[in-house]
Amino acid sequence: MINKAIILAGGMGTRMSPLTKAVNKQLLPIYDKPLIFYPLSILMLAKIKDILIIVNKGQLSQYKKILPDGKRLGINISFKEQISPRGLPDAFLLGEKFIDNKNVALILGDNFFYGQNLTSKLINCTKLKNGAKIILHKVAKPESFGVAKTSKNGKILSIKEKPKKFFSDLAITGLYFFDKKVVEYSKMLKPSFRNELEITDLLKIYLRKKKLTSDILGRGGAWLDTGSIEDFYKTSSFVSAIENRQGFKIGCLEEIAFNNKWIGKKEILNAIQFYGKCDYTNYLKKLI
Ligand code: G1P
Repeated sequence: MINKAIILAGGMGTRMSPLTKAVNKQLLPIYDKPLIFYPLSILMLAKIKDILIIVNKGQLSQYKKILPDGKRLGINISFKEQISPRGLPDAFLLGEKFIDNKNVALILGDNFFYGQNLTSKLINCTKLKNGAKIILHKVAKPESFGVAKTSKNGKILSIKEKPKKFFSDLAITGLYFFDKKVVEYSKMLKPSFRNELEITDLLKIYLRKKKLTSDILGRGGAWLDTGSIEDFYKTSSFVSAIENRQGFKIGCLEEIAFNNKWIGKKEILNAIQFYGKCDYTNYLKKLI
């Protein structure tokens, strides 16, 4: 079982400078909410309540303004500062105490997921006992991601980080589920040519031990990247189109907590106070 997760929201967001000079990338808007709401909402949909957010050094106070503590969402949020970005598996070294020899999920702070059967898929992934599980999604430009080649029955045959030559079009999304060995294996990793610990190298350890499995987010689901300014606008348009059509919000943390019965009417009223007069508040009012 997985009850703990890490959101990796470190990094300088250099590609989005000057926007990221004063504000952390994960606090910039995707349509009507800060980006961080979306990965956090994914963990909450997976019913994970114990969450560590790794943030860039010096930016903790920004996060504490918007996510003061998890109590108002009925969850436990703790923070850890990262001095310099050393690659994704660094999350498990920084989070060793938080992980406490338990299984753990990792979601990248800039990943956006959406889809009809997503919640049941996520809950299924948290049932992991041993090994590691990744979520794959077909993309048009696999060379920009970690990529997995699978057999006809979905078994992972090999994986590669940003392959220059076509290898497979199944990208490894930024949502991973690991058993408790993840800390031990992360300590064995050596920095790559870009001087970072690579998540693909970590996954390869599991693959060699025949302990790496996957699930596919099919074409009815969306996995969007928010690495560049262009991506921010595209993802914002996606959220705006769906929200305005349906009248439902994507990534409304209080709504998920309320539906999970982690909070009640009182906490929603507190949230209404906290956010003040805005569209998000109007939406919360409708919930109760
Ligand atoms: C990282 C991982 C890559 C993964 C991607 C998902 O890429 O290294 O395997 O597919 O996240 O967003 P990076 O953000 O380092 O380019």
